[in-house]
Amino acid sequence: MKILVCGGAGFIGSNFIHYMLQTYPRYSIINFDKLTYAGNLDNLKDVEGSERYTFVQGDVANPRDVETVFEAHKPDMVINFAAETHNDRSVHGEAAAFAMTNFVGVQTILDAVERFGARRFVQVSTDEVYGELELHDARSFQIDDPMLPNSPYSAAKAGGDLMCRAYFRSFNTPVIVTHCTNNYGPYQYPEKLIPFFTARAMHDEVLPLYGNGRNVRDWIYVIDHCRGLDLALHKGTPGETYNFDADNERSNIDMANKILEILGKPKELLTFIEDRPGHDMRYSLDATKARTELGWEPVHNFDTMLEKTLRWYHENQWWIDGIKKRGAELNKHIKDKVAMQDRTVVRGQKSIARAHIKGAFSRL
Ligand SMILES: NC(=O)c1ccc[n+]([C@@H]2O[C@H](COP(=O)([O-])OP(=O)(O)OC[C@H]3O[C@@H](n4cnc5c(N)ncnc54)[C@H](O)[C@@H]3O)[C@@H](O)[C@H]2O)c1
Repeated sequence: MKILVCGGAGFIGSNFIHYMLQTYPRYSIINFDKLTYAGNLDNLKDVEGSERYTFVQGDVANPRDVETVFEAHKPDMVINFAAETHNDRSVHGEAAAFAMTNFVGVQTILDAVERFGARRFVQVSTDEVYGELELHDARSFQIDDPMLPNSPYSAAKAGGDLMCRAYFRSFNTPVIVTHCTNNYGPYQYPEKLIPFFTARAMHDEVLPLYGNGRNVRDWIYVIDHCRGLDLALHKGTPGETYNFDADNERSNIDMANKILEILGKPKELLTFIEDRPGHDMRYSLDATKARTELGWEPVHNFDTMLEKTLRWYHENQWWIDGIKKRGAELNKHIKDKVAMQDRTVVRGQKSIARAHIKGAFSRL
């Protein structure tokens, strides 16, 4: 069995490749990735010598690249993680790249699946396509809820989902779409909340929270998501959508406090900055269909795995250093916001913020 993994050098894709190589000793994996700033072959160092693993550099939005990899490897199954994924970038001038990869890229893969006849294609998507829930809304998003995306990131992902639906309806392409809530675990690019806050707290740098910090996300350990994707590939019904959610809703401020508590750092490191545009208040998915039809359930305990995840970042500073060496400036838009905040912050808070902000953004 040959599986083509698009975007396998990123956070979830690399965890998925590790998981699949361990779970299926007879499977081989072709990792097709453009290696954007978020793609990192360090994530796969331990498997690069395996004869069951091949890396091919290419762009999912480039039909020639995609056809070449399909032609050369004739994959039985295809799964697509390739995406521009950082919401903040999508609202700070990079929306065009999101449209290309998250929308055109999906259509390009669908064409190749049609042309080369792969047995299954799983498109990995996000809870964010549904828009936002209110904090006190008692419900979770249902599979058939309307798509009401609020950022260029989620709008482009919704476009990819709709293209999958259209290819299934028009051509019977064997495609399955999955949505998942926020993942955490090793190898996540350190611009995202957990590794960003962890790396900063480890250096006693302030943790900048958007708005009042009360936005709620539902957190799932990345391997629980990967198991769901494995089941979707093997047992999912073409044309169907499955949602994955582990019922661990936490506000961003609770997550930040938890990270400080685990690392033994003071609460004074928290600081509030101007909210970002289109910042959804809450996400939550109903995963009943995945549980009943795929027999999936999340098995990892949130507190245990969060602590393990933080320990992984702590013990693998080399991994973050490798990203820094490539000249990465993480969340550079936040620097200006913290500076603005520092000018307007009320007396009392100001001295604490100043003490920590000094040099805060130079080290990561
Ligand atoms: N991280 C989460 O919490 C989460 C939650 C739900 C859904 N998702 C979805 O899961 C998928 C993977 O997310 P992630 O967090 O691992 O992302 P990531 O940013 O860590 O990795 C994305 C990968 O895609 C590659 N890539 C980007 N553009 C490409 C292109 N044009 N052609 C080929 N490769 C390209 C990058 O090089 C990188 O390796 C995304 O589609 C995302 O929407 C993520």
